[in-house]
Amino acid sequence: MESEKPDLDYFGIFSGISETIVTTTKVSLPNAAPIGIIRKDNKVLVRLFKGSQTYENVYEGNFLVANVVNNPLIFVRSTFSDLDTSYFDVISLEDREFPVLNDALSWVAFECSSTKITSEALVAELNPIFACLNRCVVSAPNRGFNAVLEATVHATRYRLTGDDEYLKLIQMYARLAVKCGNERDKLAMEMLYDFLGL
Ligand SMILES: Cc1cc2nc3c(=O)[nH]c(=O)nc-3n(C[C@H](O)[C@H](O)[C@H](O)COP(=O)(O)O)c2cc1C
Repeated sequence: MESEKPDLDYFGIFSGISETIVTTTKVSLPNAAPIGIIRKDNKVLVRLFKGSQTYENVYEGNFLVANVVNNPLIFVRSTFSDLDTSYFDVISLEDREFPVLNDALSWVAFECSSTKITSEALVAELNPIFACLNRCVVSAPNRGFNAVLEATVHATRYRLTGDDEYLKLIQMYARLAVKCGNERDKLAMEMLYDFLGL
């Protein structure tokens, strides 16, 4: 575990937008959701849309953990439901207690600052304070896994709007997940369809 200011590259959070599972807490109740961590021009940012539990927890606590995860089932499950407590470990460090995912390849805990609130979202700067590398996995890019991520993003929009355009995109990415993905990717797509009632 690293408590000097962590080098984000080492923990798998590079320039651009990294799709992570953000864990937060509210009165000891852990929460997890897929959230993009934005690294640009020497800054790290998060944009949280109003209405989510993550928004509320970060608004109140000014703290979040970005978990780097390669398990597509966690992406789908945490988007549409609450993960049960078996998914979490609780870390105690320097008077802080916070949840992380026990399946994370790595995680970085951030304090939020310079938070700006608009009518739609909160944007905060993220300052890394603790980090941990659990496992390194060498894996070639897989279009099936990426397709699950794309389908899940479109599913959140479909759920909000009911727009058929998103449904077509979900179906397109589902075909790709079946063609290129591994068993977990295919299962994750099935789970996504179940959550959407398709
Ligand atoms: C790959 C992916 C990335 C996402 N990135 C963000 C994001 O950066 N900001 C955000 O507010 N929501 C993002 N979402 C949507 C949230 O994960 C979604 O609204 C979730 O249901 C919120 O859960 P919560 O209420 O437990 O916080 C993303 C979803 C996916 C699938």
